[in-house]
Amino acid sequence: MAYRRLVQHHQTHVWQFVCLLLSLYLLGVLYLNVSYLVHQPQRAGGRRLSPADLVGFDYRLYSLFGEDFILGRYRPRDCKPRKNFAFIKCMKCATETLGGVLRRYSYVHNLSVVLPVKDKIYLGWPFPMTPLDHRPSGREYNALIEHAIYNGTFMRSFMANGTAFLTILREPGDHFVSTLNYFNVFEIANVSVRHGMEAVHEYIRNIEKYETIYKRPAAEKRYCIPDGFSVSKNLLSQCLGMPLGFPSGTPNITDNARAVRQYIKALDKEFLLVMLMEYFDESLVLLRRLMCWTIKDILFHVSNVGSYRSKAARRPQLSPDDRAAHKRWSSVDYALYSHFNKTFWNKVGLQGPDFHYEVAHFRQVQKAVTSFCLNIAKYAGSQIEFPESFWSPPFNVSSSDCQLMTAPLLPLLKKRHEELEPQYANYPKVKVKRNYQPLC
Ligand SMILES: *[C@@H]1O[C@H](CO)[C@@H](O)[C@H](O)[C@H]1NC(C)=O
Ligand SMILES: *[C@@H]1O[C@H](CO)[C@@H](O)[C@H](O)[C@H]1NC(C)=O
Ligand SMILES: *[C@@H]1O[C@H](CO)[C@@H](O)[C@H](O)[C@H]1NC(C)=O
Ligand SMILES: *[C@@H]1O[C@H](CO)[C@@H](O)[C@H](O)[C@H]1NC(C)=O
Ligand SMILES: *[C@@H]1O[C@H](CO)[C@@H](O)[C@H](O)[C@H]1NC(C)=O
Ligand SMILES: *[C@@H]1O[C@H](CO)[C@@H](O)[C@H](O)[C@H]1NC(C)=O
Ligand SMILES: *[C@@H]1O[C@H](CO)[C@@H](O)[C@H](O)[C@H]1NC(C)=O
Repeated sequence: MAYRRLVQHHQTHVWQFVCLLLSLYLLGVLYLNVSYLVHQPQRAGGRRLSPADLVGFDYRLYSLFGEDFILGRYRPRDCKPRKNFAFIKCMKCATETLGGVLRRYSYVHNLSVVLPVKDKIYLGWPFPMTPLDHRPSGREYNALIEHAIYNGTFMRSFMANGTAFLTILREPGDHFVSTLNYFNVFEIANVSVRHGMEAVHEYIRNIEKYETIYKRPAAEKRYCIPDGFSVSKNLLSQCLGMPLGFPSGTPNITDNARAVRQYIKALDKEFLLVMLMEYFDESLVLLRRLMCWTIKDILFHVSNVGSYRSKAARRPQLSPDDRAAHKRWSSVDYALYSHFNKTFWNKVGLQGPDFHYEVAHFRQVQKAVTSFCLNIAKYAGSQIEFPESFWSPPFNVSSSDCQLMTAPLLPLLKKRHEELEPQYANYPKVKVKRNYQPLC
């Protein structure tokens, strides 16, 4: 017995030694790799890459599409790029990714952007936006991007004429799950289960109880969310300005199905495009076409690789019972999504047969650019040269384009505004008494 323990003890030592050697070896390999990467820029710097030099650009796909669309010459469309837009940025609908695209467009085209005051990041959200929530400007406003509650009358009063209203929605059940996690609701509402779909299940089963705890005054760690505000009930419709009783004392049409239908119809008239997060690539291509922008304009950066679609496929789903319960709780959002899921496909249908080819083409371009931008240390100073296609003249994507895609642009837009109109950097100079004080 004692002998066995001794042998085991001895064996442990041998194993420890082997592990040590292995660790040293791995560290060595790692060091060599890192120094290889660090020195790589000199080797690859200034290279002119074809998309096929990066993973995943498959020209064979193109022969499937037929020569006409892909290798055919660029057919310029008879339209002028639209440079006036208001993007209604609702929470947890890939709006940060889309916001990045729109901020870059604004930055590159030197647009006049509606910017939050001082160091704020929202335009009054989730309260109704007022003139106190944005920096004044002597220039006509071209772009509104940051979080604001939609009010067409108010927004049209200061945006350039012919402003295109844009937004993106997400299937309300998935949106609900994502929102609970993002706003740390399980912890703040003291839900007895904290993780995974069991926590969501527990929350839905006792939703009134947990909502009350979450919304109570002085709840900790709610950061930008004010007292009495629900993040689980009709958040998308509230963001689109539907009168749903927040802030308290304002009209609430939640239970008036006819008024809800009318409001959705009015939105449909006022918005040029309502995109869908589940069809992110299709949404961007539709955006590009309706705004008469270029393919380069709609390239985007996601910090964690993988399309929203493939991530959605891996994400745990609400059980049918929980979804049904949430649908009763948040019925207005389901009506909203269902309507714009139809109009989205109607708009796609009007685009003609090459639309889906362009989406496939855009995916390849985006894949090459993602691979390039994620390995920017290796490709510093290089560029990808994309050939002419049916939808686009030739264009280049350089490492400085990657920087524009990854940099936080809101501070840069504010900086540019402060250089041009320093008198408004500190607006409002005196504290104004107001009904609601947005937190962020
Ligand atoms: C942007 O536009 C403003 C107003 O037209 C102009 O004064 C400014 O120089 C421009 N800035 C850049 C970087 O083009
Ligand atoms: C929308 O804006 C208009 C004009 O500023 C204002 O009169 C109205 O009260 C606003 N509506 C809401 C719901 O805040
Ligand atoms: C928009 O057009 C209307 C009438 O066409 C005009 O009165 C108004 O001044 C214009 N607004 C801006 C910001 O150009
Ligand atoms: C959280 O819930 C537990 C029971 O699940 C209870 O014992 C505890 O007092 C609650 N904490 C707060 C802050 O409500
Ligand atoms: C609006 O009305 C609905 C249904 O009566 C209710 O559940 C909801 O809490 C109300 N909204 C607010 C913000 O009070
Ligand atoms: C959206 O519309 C598509 C096409 O009609 C349909 O297949 C899909 O089930 C709809 N999604 C939802 C969540 O309603
Ligand atoms: C792309 O870069 C190449 C090499 O610098 C240049 O010759 C070409 O004109 C660029 N194309 C565009 C569309 O800017």
